[in-house]
Amino acid sequence: MFETLSKAPQDKIFALMAEVAADARPGKIDLGIGVYKDDDGNTPIMSAVRKAEERILTTARTKTYIGVAGNKGFCTAMVDLALAGTVPAERVRSVQAPGGTGAVWVLLTLLKRAKPNGRVWISDPSWPNHKPMAEQAGFAVATYPYFDPATRGVRFEEMLATLDTLGPDDIVLLHGCCHNPTGANLTPGQWDEVVASLSRTGAFPLIDLAYQGFGDGLEEDAYGARAIAKAIPEFVLATSCSKNFGIYRERVGCAIIAGKDAAAADVANSQMLNIVRGAYSQPPDHGAEIVRIILEDKDLRAEWQAELEAMRQRMVGNRQALADAIRARSNSTDFDFVAQHRGMFSLLGLGVSTVEHLKANNAVYMLDDSRINIAGLADERIQRLADAIVGATH
Ligand SMILES: Cc1ncc(COP(=O)(O)O)c(C=O)c1O
Repeated sequence: MFETLSKAPQDKIFALMAEVAADARPGKIDLGIGVYKDDDGNTPIMSAVRKAEERILTTARTKTYIGVAGNKGFCTAMVDLALAGTVPAERVRSVQAPGGTGAVWVLLTLLKRAKPNGRVWISDPSWPNHKPMAEQAGFAVATYPYFDPATRGVRFEEMLATLDTLGPDDIVLLHGCCHNPTGANLTPGQWDEVVASLSRTGAFPLIDLAYQGFGDGLEEDAYGARAIAKAIPEFVLATSCSKNFGIYRERVGCAIIAGKDAAAADVANSQMLNIVRGAYSQPPDHGAEIVRIILEDKDLRAEWQAELEAMRQRMVGNRQALADAIRARSNSTDFDFVAQHRGMFSLLGLGVSTVEHLKANNAVYMLDDSRINIAGLADERIQRLADAIVGATH
């Protein structure tokens, strides 16, 4: 029967991981997969997470089913973390989802039921999973201008001009913060303009907030989501705990919807629960319970926030160090943008041949669009990477 199938394209991030693993050269630099790494190249378990797990181990009394919506305390805490009361609770509903990806999937499936003739607009470029996921949900996908390869900033005027042409059948997928893959983000003032555009056109916002706390801080990174929440009566929001709690493999995310009133939110919620039940029945609990315990406990929450802030500071520091190292070698400001970008990623704007050159000659691995993960860079690697980039580009 399977002869009717042809081979599906391999995800380019996982293909790159296999290439890195097969490279025997010492000192190879892996800037591929999007996980936070410390100076030693490890992705550690946060101490607040460990402590929450210890509590689960000693206090949990059952492993019975959690229910279709998942861990209720977790959902409440996640809504609060992202939206901080900007929408009255009676208009908000949420379900725990398997990762931020699962949350995006639940919401896209819900939106397809609500807007069968809708079109999804994603940024150019966007996280490589956005387009296939929207297509799998049955949507046509279009792009709005986003990254300017000349300035490595946002082409904001063009982005806004495109958003202004949309209408109520259009769904706009917005990265809440720490844009993946570019690292270039909207300022609060630009978010306000996007919100004004959405209000004018009636286009529907789907916010993907996968890196809250990795950019400018927990509150700052939620600016866009909260600005939308304050001004737009209906929106959906996908959040992820993979990065900011470092629990990637536990698969923890939250699908959040806001309806124009409680009755509309209830109907949409019933559809969301129906989607989950018909797909995977209910989510796993362990990771969500870790997050619930941390967010509900004052001391653990403070400990987690301090750990998260240290990770964020390290990424900001790595950005500055890489920009400085390249500037010192090249005597140019060409790569200063790396220090302005936020989150784990920067799109360097290098051509595919330069990316291949860096791989072949310097064992430096990045995605073929020249996205790098700056989180895994210790000082010695920053200097070698600067040597390699300047060697290949100047
Ligand atoms: C833009 C974006 N959205 C969502 C996710 C979802 O991550 P996860 O499913 O691992 O929580 C990611 C992770 O790389 C991402 O970059």
